[in-house]
Amino acid sequence: MRMRKKKNLVPRMERCGAVHIKDGPAMRGHWRDLMPGATALYLELGCGKGRFTVENARQNPEVLFIAVEKVADAQVVAMERAMEAELKNVFFLVGDAAALPELFAPGEVDRIFINFCDPWPPKRQAKRRLTHRNFLALYRQVLAEGGEIHFKTDNDPLFEFSLEEFPQAGFSLHQVTRDLHADGPQGVMTDYEAKFYQEGITINRCVAEMEPLP
Ligand SMILES: C[S@@+](CC[C@H](N)C(=O)[O-])C[C@H]1O[C@@H](n2cnc3c(N)ncnc32)[C@H](O)[C@@H]1O
Repeated sequence: MRMRKKKNLVPRMERCGAVHIKDGPAMRGHWRDLMPGATALYLELGCGKGRFTVENARQNPEVLFIAVEKVADAQVVAMERAMEAELKNVFFLVGDAAALPELFAPGEVDRIFINFCDPWPPKRQAKRRLTHRNFLALYRQVLAEGGEIHFKTDNDPLFEFSLEEFPQAGFSLHQVTRDLHADGPQGVMTDYEAKFYQEGITINRCVAEMEPLP
């Protein structure tokens, strides 16, 4: 996501101190201390401006939500939304999905959401796709047994690529659809998704469940 540099980024981040995790690696293995009664920990990768995670956190107050986003200028908008909604079950970390095993202990995450990640169309850049098998191997390191990845994208070639990658990395596929909103809006939409939906662009979705490796 190309974003204009936000004015006053630092003071705006500071005002969001209650939901901003500054030292991710220090939280490894201790995320549930943020909310000891949490029934599950859900993680969104590349949350952008945060519409999806903030609304999900509002609808599911018993679940602890963590959102990781590498661009602080987008993340700050997400944090401001969470602060505005006075949510106590959602926290944000500026970081890279490639560093997940340094941020979460084995089995600490119950579900990962990947929504509208960058498709990196050239084949030589396939390794940058967040559903490339190298990334899926990292997610395996932090997911609990039977953990899930919920994936949405408007990009058809990326979706077909991902449907091949998931089984290769030991995930079974469920709820595969190439037109999620065919019968009207389904679930919480992300910022990108809401725009695509308005434009009549079809949305692909699947759930990938982690299976034990042989
Ligand atoms: C196309 S935007 C989609 C944003 C949001 N998920 C949505 O659907 O509205 C992709 C987002 O993923 C973030 N991103 C890309 N690669 C990432 C990575 N390796 N780790 C964390 N965030 C990443 C980008 O900075 C950007 O905000």
